[in-house]
Amino acid sequence: MPDVPAGLTRGDTLRAGARQLRAAGCDTPDLDSRLLLAEICGLRPGEIHSASGAIVPAADAERFAALLARRAAGEPVHRIIGRRAFYEHEFLLSPDTLEPRPDTEILVEEARKAMAEIVARTGACRLADVGTGTGAIAVSLLALFDTATAFAIDISEGALETARRNAEAAGVADRMLALRANYLDGIGGPLDLVVSNPPYISHRDIAALAREVRDHDPWPALDGGPDGLDAYRALSAGARGILTPGAPAIVEIGEGQADDVTAIFAAEGFSRIAATRDLGDRIRVLSFRRGDSGAHPG
Ligand SMILES: C[S@@+](CC[C@H](N)C(=O)[O-])C[C@H]1O[C@@H](n2cnc3c(N)ncnc32)[C@H](O)[C@@H]1O
Repeated sequence: MPDVPAGLTRGDTLRAGARQLRAAGCDTPDLDSRLLLAEICGLRPGEIHSASGAIVPAADAERFAALLARRAAGEPVHRIIGRRAFYEHEFLLSPDTLEPRPDTEILVEEARKAMAEIVARTGACRLADVGTGTGAIAVSLLALFDTATAFAIDISEGALETARRNAEAAGVADRMLALRANYLDGIGGPLDLVVSNPPYISHRDIAALAREVRDHDPWPALDGGPDGLDAYRALSAGARGILTPGAPAIVEIGEGQADDVTAIFAAEGFSRIAATRDLGDRIRVLSFRRGDSGAHPG
């Protein structure tokens, strides 16, 4: 276990932690040391420097060393802390939930624009967040529009428990129904919007994932089937049956999946209306609109 000497100031403890994480091959040693020390001291990460001369009590140094050891062994820093900031809220994590990622905030932004238009036109918005995990997408959207309501759907009861707690914390639980279902099976419409960041890693790519993802994010949150596209087939078929004509479906995708996912949604009568790129210039979010007729095109 890393050794953090007792009697050091916060500033020296922070640097000692960063040195140990750097030596262990951690990508972001300074940031992670700060996040973990702030957790131990009960401070916000930005507050560590303002009182950097304070002495860290021996018991806290020992607890900090224990957290550093977990981080050095490859456990992601937010898993250790048990929560992660996403969009405008902080989300509790559990072993059954994916850690919400910054890329997914792009989906929330796209959905926000679509919802603003729906709410302006109809006064409300009924949405489904499919594969809700921590509830990050549904909770973020419900907090933006107080006449919106959501089904937050997941196959994992453990994830749904965490999503319910996150909805409570954000004050939106009375407008979010957390439901266990296989994608949209059995969900009643009509709905104004479907959003999803589903599992989309192909079996071939799972082996190549970073150790921190593979070993710490739950398998059902990653496994998109043999070609990574199983969820989009289920989502497009389900969404076609419950979205109102012309309503949007907005999904996050993996690298290189844009053409395949577009073809899958087109086969269910959806037209692509936007492809939004992430900071690495990869298409990350696709927005579709359901055709005006409810009939299956094929
Ligand atoms: C990539 S994670 C996304 C979690 C969250 N929406 C986010 O963006 O942080 C995919 C989620 O889909 C759920 N899931 C996997 N298979 C499912 C299925 N057949 N039906 C519903 N949800 C499923 C997983 O449990 C996981 O919570």
